[in-house]
Amino acid sequence: MEKKIFITGANGLVGQWLIKALVEEDFLVVASGKGECRIPFHGEPSYKYIDLDITDGNKVYEKIIAESPDLIVHAAAITQPDVCEINKVLCWNTNVTATRFLIDAAKKINAGFVYVSTDFVFSGEEGPYSEEDLPAPVNYYGSSKLAGEKATEESGLNWTIIRTVLVYGKTWKSERKNFVFWIRESLENKVSIRVVDDQWRTPTFVEDLVDGIVSAIKKNATGIFHLSGKDMLTPYQLALKTAEALQLDPSYIERVNASVFSQPAKRPPKTGFVIEKAKKELGFDPNYIDDGLQKMFTETEEYAG
Ligand SMILES: NC(=O)c1ccc[n+]([C@@H]2O[C@H](COP(=O)([O-])OP(=O)(O)OC[C@H]3O[C@@H](n4cnc5c(N)ncnc54)[C@H](OP(=O)(O)O)[C@@H]3O)[C@@H](O)[C@H]2O)c1
Repeated sequence: MEKKIFITGANGLVGQWLIKALVEEDFLVVASGKGECRIPFHGEPSYKYIDLDITDGNKVYEKIIAESPDLIVHAAAITQPDVCEINKVLCWNTNVTATRFLIDAAKKINAGFVYVSTDFVFSGEEGPYSEEDLPAPVNYYGSSKLAGEKATEESGLNWTIIRTVLVYGKTWKSERKNFVFWIRESLENKVSIRVVDDQWRTPTFVEDLVDGIVSAIKKNATGIFHLSGKDMLTPYQLALKTAEALQLDPSYIERVNASVFSQPAKRPPKTGFVIEKAKKELGFDPNYIDDGLQKMFTETEEYAG
């Protein structure tokens, strides 16, 4: 029988796509999110949805024990660095304490644990980073995600940490727009935007990321994996590529340095990943950025909410 997989953060960008991919692979999927289900495709018995605020320790325990999954994929988090910087208690409760609740419950039933993490665990001084490089976060979001990683590593469970970078892709009913959507909306509405050209990332097409996670699950891969796109770009370059893919006027995009913004959370200047380990061990083969953007705006259109 296929594995039973319990997902947190099911209403988020990664969670939504992950559920779709796992259901297509015939896993038994329990999708959990805060509040009502915002996953755009339905059809029990393909997956079951549970309303679960992961900061409620008793409820986490109760639901995980009741479902008794073989594996938990923990994708829920407060993901906006500035929100984390301003509201540290909320950030820590969600990204660290709740991760510990999930691990404690997983221990009770000996479930495997997959923790989705971020390039923001690194300082950004020496990117691109491989799995062996030492984390040194520069903001509270990064510190909280690193603490979640540590709890995972020390859990004694079969664990996997999947780190990723600036994820783009179509979302349906998410309240948060990812970077590429923000660019599209701004250019379509002819709104001028300032985009930084002195930070470097390897943006990740969400469908590639979930392919990599599914591969790790199928191979029972444990340890840390870096999953990102192949191209190292600045957000400004990504904005230009988005305009090109959509044939929108790029003149509304103003090129600036990060120093013009006074954001609460410091950003690591150059992250990005070396993905050789994932290529070799998971068969990970992400799209080039031009192809990812094309797919985002064409092939997946039918899922738009
Ligand atoms: N997106 C990126 O660029 C990126 C880059 C690197 C790493 N990551 C990591 O990837 C993972 C998934 O991120 P994402 O892109 O899918 O972000 P997202 O769209 O913000 O999704 C995160 C989800 O977590 C949920 N959540 C927050 N607090 C919760 C709580 N107390 N109980 C239950 N659910 C809660 C949110 O629910 P609501 O929607 O109801 O608020 C949201 O649906 C995260 O662990 C993040 O750190 C993301």
